[in-house]
Amino acid sequence: MSEWTRRDVVKTGFAASLGALALPGAAARATAAASDDSQAGVDVAKTLAPSVSLRERLLLDFNWRFHLGHADDPARDFGYGNGEEFGKTGEFMRTTSKPDLDVSGWQAVDLPHDWVVELPFENDAALYNQGFKPVGRAYPATSIGWYRRVFDLPASEHGRRLSLEFDGVFRDCLVALNGVYLGRNLSGYAPFRFDITDVANYGGPNVLVVRADATEHEGWFYEGAGIYRHAWLVKTHPVHVSQWGTFVSTEVRGAAATLTILTQVENESDEAPVSRVVSTVTDPAGHVVARTATPPSRLAAWSGRELTQRVAVGNPALWSVETPALYRLTTVVEAGGAEVDRYETSLGIRSIRFDPDRGFFLNGVRVELKGTCNHQDHAGVGSALPDRLQYHRIERLKGMGCNAYRTSHNPPTPELLEACDRLGMLVLDEARMMSSSDEGISQFGRLIRRDRNHPCVFAWSIGNEEWFVQGAERGALIAAAMKRLARRLDPTRLVTEAMNFDWGKGLSEVVDIQGFNYFVAGDIDTYHRAHPRQPTMGTETASTVSTRGIYANDATRGYLSAYDVNTPRWGSTAESWWTYYDARAFLAGGFVWTGFDYRGEPTPYKWPCISSHFGIMDTCGFPKDNYFYYQAWWGGSPVLHLFPHWNWPGREGEEIEVWCHSNLERVELFLNGQSLGAQDVHRNTHLMWRVRYAPGALEARAYRGGQVVLTAKRETTGPAARVLLAADRPRISADGEDVAVVEVRVVDAAGRTVPVAGDEISFQVSGAGKLIGVGSGDPSSHEADRGSSVRRAFNGLCMALVQATKESGEIQIEATAPGLAPGTAAIRCESATPRPAVA
Ligand code: GAL
Repeated sequence: MSEWTRRDVVKTGFAASLGALALPGAAARATAAASDDSQAGVDVAKTLAPSVSLRERLLLDFNWRFHLGHADDPARDFGYGNGEEFGKTGEFMRTTSKPDLDVSGWQAVDLPHDWVVELPFENDAALYNQGFKPVGRAYPATSIGWYRRVFDLPASEHGRRLSLEFDGVFRDCLVALNGVYLGRNLSGYAPFRFDITDVANYGGPNVLVVRADATEHEGWFYEGAGIYRHAWLVKTHPVHVSQWGTFVSTEVRGAAATLTILTQVENESDEAPVSRVVSTVTDPAGHVVARTATPPSRLAAWSGRELTQRVAVGNPALWSVETPALYRLTTVVEAGGAEVDRYETSLGIRSIRFDPDRGFFLNGVRVELKGTCNHQDHAGVGSALPDRLQYHRIERLKGMGCNAYRTSHNPPTPELLEACDRLGMLVLDEARMMSSSDEGISQFGRLIRRDRNHPCVFAWSIGNEEWFVQGAERGALIAAAMKRLARRLDPTRLVTEAMNFDWGKGLSEVVDIQGFNYFVAGDIDTYHRAHPRQPTMGTETASTVSTRGIYANDATRGYLSAYDVNTPRWGSTAESWWTYYDARAFLAGGFVWTGFDYRGEPTPYKWPCISSHFGIMDTCGFPKDNYFYYQAWWGGSPVLHLFPHWNWPGREGEEIEVWCHSNLERVELFLNGQSLGAQDVHRNTHLMWRVRYAPGALEARAYRGGQVVLTAKRETTGPAARVLLAADRPRISADGEDVAVVEVRVVDAAGRTVPVAGDEISFQVSGAGKLIGVGSGDPSSHEADRGSSVRRAFNGLCMALVQATKESGEIQIEATAPGLAPGTAAIRCESATPRPAVA
């Protein structure tokens, strides 16, 4: 045993191949150190001496070129389809792959990038789902996007394994490196990877070309198009951990946890080194709490292996919604006695289980799922969200007491899950295509392998409202195949489907958790009585429709009242669905359709409305009044929210419904100092007074134990006088990626938000940042989100997204509007180390 390292180094010549990699000094020293250790026996501690990792994961987001192509006309599609694209290796997409292509007419872009958000709106009923953006078969000139990136690789990279990883390209994309076809990926939501070791140009430029074809849609909502998630260049030693090659499952018993660590190692070389895996677990403070090594064994040339290790962790800090403690697994692969790979996995220690009578348990404690479904687009940026916006959105949701997120109806970007891990948000992770075809299984398998280490993910959803098959045997068979895959890749989580009909039929009998979408398909109590052993949850509920700051439906302008009253035929109000769910312990909770408004599906309207009204918040994340309903009954803190606004000139003497969302005991309402009476608050309901309008001040006082705990005021404001800016953070990082969300308020001379203001705001951003998008949450606005520095306020508010450059310094933002005093804000852009990126 003690000889294993040395013997194999000598016998297989593996050390020679390591040498060919031109190891950096520290790694070379580690090689020597490891060999020495071997003479004294396999000493885990010693071989763990710090060394330079051979793995590099470089962000490939910057300095791309972009050009629209054409879906029908090769002449306008860089000749694609004219030639023998697959005729000879090396001529794939040959025009755009030419090293000396003149790209002066191509747009310089950074990823993430969504070209659809920049297109003008089109009044075409067929574009209803896409938010009236011209993309699809009928719009060939705006449905193909070409991306090109040239990067150098030094000759010294020879001998490493190189791959490109894409977190998501919408959609049906073809990828070539140096004119050699790398592959095709269909789904815009599925991550994919191509090995480029054989086709890379070492010691010279590499031309990477991506052709994305968005003529077909995958969903019935705005999807955007392009390389709208991150791209990476990954370099490893030939012996390395596979992509998504670790899986840590945790079992918590009393004050101790057992971690089962699966590691997939592959050897992409002609050598057959003796290798082993050393796994080290560190706690949230960075202290090592467990370490274990596999017995060394030979790894055959061009082979892979899965290894299982178990470690115990005493008194673990459990991951929960309130305290999302994260541990870290560091996987070191040694081959020929040297560390050749180091791979990091973030994880949480927690237990989950479903009970058919009592719902969902996290760490043994019942947690009622207070969830929202969401699509992935945001104001200003379409589907190409900088990472910071993922955190911003999850923070907004947490702010109203939401503890669960359904990634409807597709796999999310990895950063969404990172945000949920870090901030404490449970996730129902959903596949895009319910299918047992090779393609479907491949997509679902990639989703599970990528996401199974995230403690936030509590279940897999295999689909949504699959009404062609869900109630039939065909649906049951497809579901069974997907469930088999899920069990094989992740035995720790259950599987559900979000079913609108056919409860109890077809795949309903296969999935572990019955997912109910809405109330129209049947009676939930009856279902539970008939299926007493099956856990249940509301995978989709509500679909309440409302527009921020609007208090009467207006079909012409495409607005809906923000009182909790409007729903489509299949939907329900916030109050009615939550009252029902909250009263039933067997239901694990439910997911509102939706947390945020999104582009497309402007139900119940059509053009000129372009965004949905389902959000509890608008597309910018500005809360609608229902936000406070949920905050009152989902959150833990005292809430008092009074609405509508009190600017109703011309309606003097008319009765206006005044609502209050509060979780305190009793609320008294006053108009201009006169009490209009007090009412007791009943769980999960709102309060309402009919008040004859007179300008002035409406005030609510909320009591607990006879004491006033909170007051809320709505005052008739004066005319708009100035613009006020507030950035969500005073400091951001100068890493070229960070983003500040700047809220714009139009206020009167007394500083009160004018709730009906629609002034056009112009932004000037200077210094260490740039304006990347604007929005207002107006579901009928046809203003440009990107490439414009102007936005009309909607009911007093709008928003600007400002991104850091890589220079530190101050960002100055000025917002002006005709006749109003300008607003300014300054954000410090603090020096930061940008993530390692391809030069
Ligand atoms: C559901 C569907 C969602 C969305 C919603 C609108 O049936 O799953 O994607 O369309 O209706 O109410």
